[in-house]
Amino acid sequence: MLKLMPSQQSRGYYEKLDFPLVQPRGGRSTLHEQSKLWLALAEAGADVLPLTIDSKTRLGQLESAAVAHEIATKTGTETLNGFPLLSVPIEAARELILRANLPVSLRHGTPIAENLVKRALAVGVKEIEGGPLSYSIPYSRDADLVQVIKSWKSVEKLCSESDYLIVRENFGILTACLVPPIQAILTNVLECCFTVELDGGIPMASFGATGNRVQDIASVEAFKQVFNWFIEKRELVFIKPMIAFHHWMGPFPTDEVRALRIIQDGTYTAQLVGAEKVVVKTVVEALGVPTIEKNAEAVKTVKALLATTSFSQTTSTSERSYVEEEVESLVTESKFLLEQLLKSFQSIEDIILNSVRGGFIDPPFAPHQSCLRDLKSLRATDGSVRICRDFPGKHSESFVAREFAILQKDWSKSSADEIVQDIQFPYFDKLPS
Ligand code: 5AD
Repeated sequence: MLKLMPSQQSRGYYEKLDFPLVQPRGGRSTLHEQSKLWLALAEAGADVLPLTIDSKTRLGQLESAAVAHEIATKTGTETLNGFPLLSVPIEAARELILRANLPVSLRHGTPIAENLVKRALAVGVKEIEGGPLSYSIPYSRDADLVQVIKSWKSVEKLCSESDYLIVRENFGILTACLVPPIQAILTNVLECCFTVELDGGIPMASFGATGNRVQDIASVEAFKQVFNWFIEKRELVFIKPMIAFHHWMGPFPTDEVRALRIIQDGTYTAQLVGAEKVVVKTVVEALGVPTIEKNAEAVKTVKALLATTSFSQTTSTSERSYVEEEVESLVTESKFLLEQLLKSFQSIEDIILNSVRGGFIDPPFAPHQSCLRDLKSLRATDGSVRICRDFPGKHSESFVAREFAILQKDWSKSSADEIVQDIQFPYFDKLPS
């Protein structure tokens, strides 16, 4: 089908600058407040507007969301932690999005998502976040994976039937807590391939700042190589994936100056990896959902950081060789693991289902009951995240040996405190010994 490509939805829009587009998050309880938020974000320079859905709607508690929305509309108070897309009249939502005049991105964390996505597409949303792995494993304990995959198949179909070319972003960040890069790469490859196979739109992989810039750069580079290889293996027509890069997704310090340093750091990495989009945090992240003003301020800050000339695109030679070694290790290991799935399963649905059942996708701290919980990781002194225990024989010996050598820590001797403290990794000037 020939797709309409208005200027803001063509690939060109995402590639127009030599630095990433800026995407804040944000959802308010009413149409009026959402409109106010978007106006402020657009004025601050946002390139993509967020439609963050409230948690009641995400969880299918639609009556409760509708009541809260009604109260918010009457009283002007915020009663929800996001936008209740399924509670507002469809025409009014369409009008809101039409007036926004920028691409709008649906952000929702819902494992069984076709109802929400159907409504979003019907009202003119052209970026849809999520996927069968990244919106179930970190977000749900018992959503049945077979049903989840079926639901995301419907999502891709809905997107493929749209008159527009949809940006199909996923959430490869997963639990954002000591997630080894190999897990993010596998998830991004499988979900982007799912989108391509089902013709859902332009796949957009997502990575985040994890504590070591070299490892973050290497993850994105390795992903691109493995994705090309995987698409070829599946005999699909290659579509160049786009990259969303997220600022640190763990907890933030309450101190705004230190929070700003984390934001600055992530912005720099987003630019270095050549991301099409940077998804931003605010300096008040530690306090909860940001006010409209603080959210707009974050957009301005990141725009200003991206425009500064002090940002150089170069990395030092030693950093470069670390990146190269890291890329090689991640690419070889990703192929080693994916080969096993390709050998045993044919359809992308089966590959995805068995990536979890077989323990290939097993991110630390994921709540989902299907995860095997064999994979453990710790942080090395250079800030990189390394596997420190796996299901025996799952990973190649050479990969595990390299991870252990860099880590120089014994899982059985690590304390729970080390992991608890790690949640706050970027606040530390030095890792606690
Ligand atoms: N408005 C703005 N930001 C939000 N987040 C969650 N809900 C909203 C909202 N309604 C942000 C959180 C966190 C991230 C996951 O999303 O502050 O940074």
